[in-house]
Amino acid sequence: MFDVKTLDRFKTLETPFYFYDLSLLKKTLDLYTAELKKYNYHAHYALKANANDKILEIIKDYGLGADCVSGNEVALALKSGFDPSKIVYAGVGKSDREIITALNGDIFTFNCESIPEIEIINQLSEKMGKKASISLRINPDIDAHTHKYISTGRSQDKFGISHWMFDDVINTINSCSSVTLTGLHFHVGSQITDLNVFEMLSLRINEIVGRFRDKGVRIENINLGGGLGIDYKSPDENPIPDFSSYFSIIDKKLHREPYQQIHFEPGRAIVAQCGSLITRVLYVKMGKGRKFAILDAGMNDLIRPALYQASHKIDNLTSSGRSMRYDVVGPVCESSDKFASNLMLPETKRGDILAIKSAGAYGQVMAMRYNQRDLAPEYYSE
Ligand code: LLP
Repeated sequence: MFDVKTLDRFKTLETPFYFYDLSLLKKTLDLYTAELKKYNYHAHYALKANANDKILEIIKDYGLGADCVSGNEVALALKSGFDPSKIVYAGVGKSDREIITALNGDIFTFNCESIPEIEIINQLSEKMGKKASISLRINPDIDAHTHKYISTGRSQDKFGISHWMFDDVINTINSCSSVTLTGLHFHVGSQITDLNVFEMLSLRINEIVGRFRDKGVRIENINLGGGLGIDYKSPDENPIPDFSSYFSIIDKKLHREPYQQIHFEPGRAIVAQCGSLITRVLYVKMGKGRKFAILDAGMNDLIRPALYQASHKIDNLTSSGRSMRYDVVGPVCESSDKFASNLMLPETKRGDILAIKSAGAYGQVMAMRYNQRDLAPEYYSE
């Protein structure tokens, strides 16, 4: 919900735009970091969820590290002042140039996803006279019960190293003098709302760490990745995820030796609820058996509904009329440019201002200029 002052401000601005409630972001971070402290866990914020400079600055000031998936993200994290010793770098396809950027930045660890990647990091790091800290991204073959496009931990997914390769990987690392193995990394998917998945993951990690121990390899860092989901249906009632249950399940199920550090890579859970996409209704038109509310924001501004059939709550901020059903669509020349079908909204007319909620994660970062549309600007509550 937005207060009268904020709504008055919206009325003066050209739409569409992203709006970030920074006080909600800080409240979320207060609760998240309090939980981390309770267990002495470490977190690296997944920049891919939202790399807006103000948001990065706030997250960095809370002491989180950065989780990056490209050389440019590593460079941005460094430029934004994240502590290099808290930067982790994953991705199945790291180019030589990207690896060199990360080696120059002296980051905490590369989350390596294949044997050839380890060999290239070793070669480059040797050339630069460095010793790279690497972790193995493991594919634990766990179904995260989320959309198939954001599932990453099943054996058929491209991510990570599977258990039948462990011996070969250990042999490779032993033959590489410019890398040191410092940990294991797991990330099984995103928007995971079934906490049993994290219980299963913790148990699987115990098993895998044990297998490495049996092979004489001591694992000092265990990274469980991100993935904790948020409430897209009721963002106002549930603006902050249940961090307490999430961490308590992991604390109960994950076996931890005194010499082990536990890491996380939250993205969506930190930033999703603080962002809304604010848009105006351009036209309302009749279709066959339906009414279309045509917005000035489209799939190029927020692609999640078109790409993952994701559903974001939509509020009409300027109407309190009788409720009716609408198909809420954007202006882009694609039928998938649709935010909702058959949605009950108060009677909606040209000029009404709508908020598409929970758009702080994977919103503006995934925006594109398809149809030569402008990128939506970003504004803040402060
Ligand atoms: N760590 C790694 C290695 C990842 O690949 C991701 C997300 C995260 C952490 C953060 O996950 P989160 O806590 O945000 O779930 N564009 C999709 C989501 C893609 C997630 C990619 N990886 C969406 O809009 O739903």
